[in-house]
Amino acid sequence: MNTNSKLLLYTFCSVFFLISVVGMFIYGYKAFYIEPEQVVSKSYPYHFALIAEETDNDYWRLIEKGAKQTAQENGVYLEYVAPKKADNSKLLKLLDRMISAKVDGIITQGIEGQRFIELVHKGIERGIPIITVDTDVENSERDVYVGTNNFFAGELTGKTIIENTKGPQYVGIVTGRFDAINQQERIAGFKHAIESTDRIHIIDSKESNITEIGATQAAYSLLKQYPKINVLIGTSALDGIGIVDGIKEYLPNKDIYITAFDVLPETLDLVRKGLIDATIAQYPKEMGAKSVEIMVGLQTKKLLDQQKYIGTKIIQKHDLVDPPGGVKR
Ligand code: BGC
Repeated sequence: MNTNSKLLLYTFCSVFFLISVVGMFIYGYKAFYIEPEQVVSKSYPYHFALIAEETDNDYWRLIEKGAKQTAQENGVYLEYVAPKKADNSKLLKLLDRMISAKVDGIITQGIEGQRFIELVHKGIERGIPIITVDTDVENSERDVYVGTNNFFAGELTGKTIIENTKGPQYVGIVTGRFDAINQQERIAGFKHAIESTDRIHIIDSKESNITEIGATQAAYSLLKQYPKINVLIGTSALDGIGIVDGIKEYLPNKDIYITAFDVLPETLDLVRKGLIDATIAQYPKEMGAKSVEIMVGLQTKKLLDQQKYIGTKIIQKHDLVDPPGGVKR
């Protein structure tokens, strides 16, 4: 081999070697690089987690909105996490993961059962303040509960039916989930309120799985199964909207007294149109904001007040259309 051919061979081998090394790095990086779960800039003094019942639920998005606004005002990094669809065991896993991630504070929906109590204990033992939002678990070691007094809110549902109906009332309940504590408390409050009269009777209850379509199906099957039902109550945010659809489909001409929960725009619209008779207001944006505000405080001191109730009230058509007493929020 002459010198020129040798040079050519060496050059070729070197270029080939170089390309292989570069290729190996690029491939190796792509194959083995794991996206970090979140990038928290060092400039944030605190990193809080907000664990919601379900990612894309309008009600939880409002809690997130209030929380994020207050977080921003306080320079806090707020991470919003939730199961895609409501699921207690998935939520508990998220809670465990946030404890392991050693965030500075956890704001979470309260969940039924011993596992939640154990996890809250674990978090508190590791020095992570925990706030329950929307749904409380009073016998856990959570620092504070921020949200509606759900028993009282359930009583309001009963009160409005007592005040606005005459004669015997047969009630079908459309509830978010049987295993959600706030739903149980609302129904308990409702039952307590109607104890004062003997003309209101609960016929049956069905779950909506906190979806509008679920509420439509629940209302439809309640009405089909029990023709004497003349009151339908919804105990979670999308239930009222779903109930109205269920009635439209099955008994468009029957006069049914309907109560809903929450003040999502579509629910208020239906109240305005007289298709929902009353709704029980909750203020999720305020819940989110207050939880973050309290969580910032908990970073430096314990709180004596362990319950921060955000107001609730009955809203009917005249509250929305009669000036000046409309819904201000
Ligand atoms: C409840 C929440 C629930 C939501 C569902 C609200 O009334 O307070 O716990 O996630 O309804 O849409």
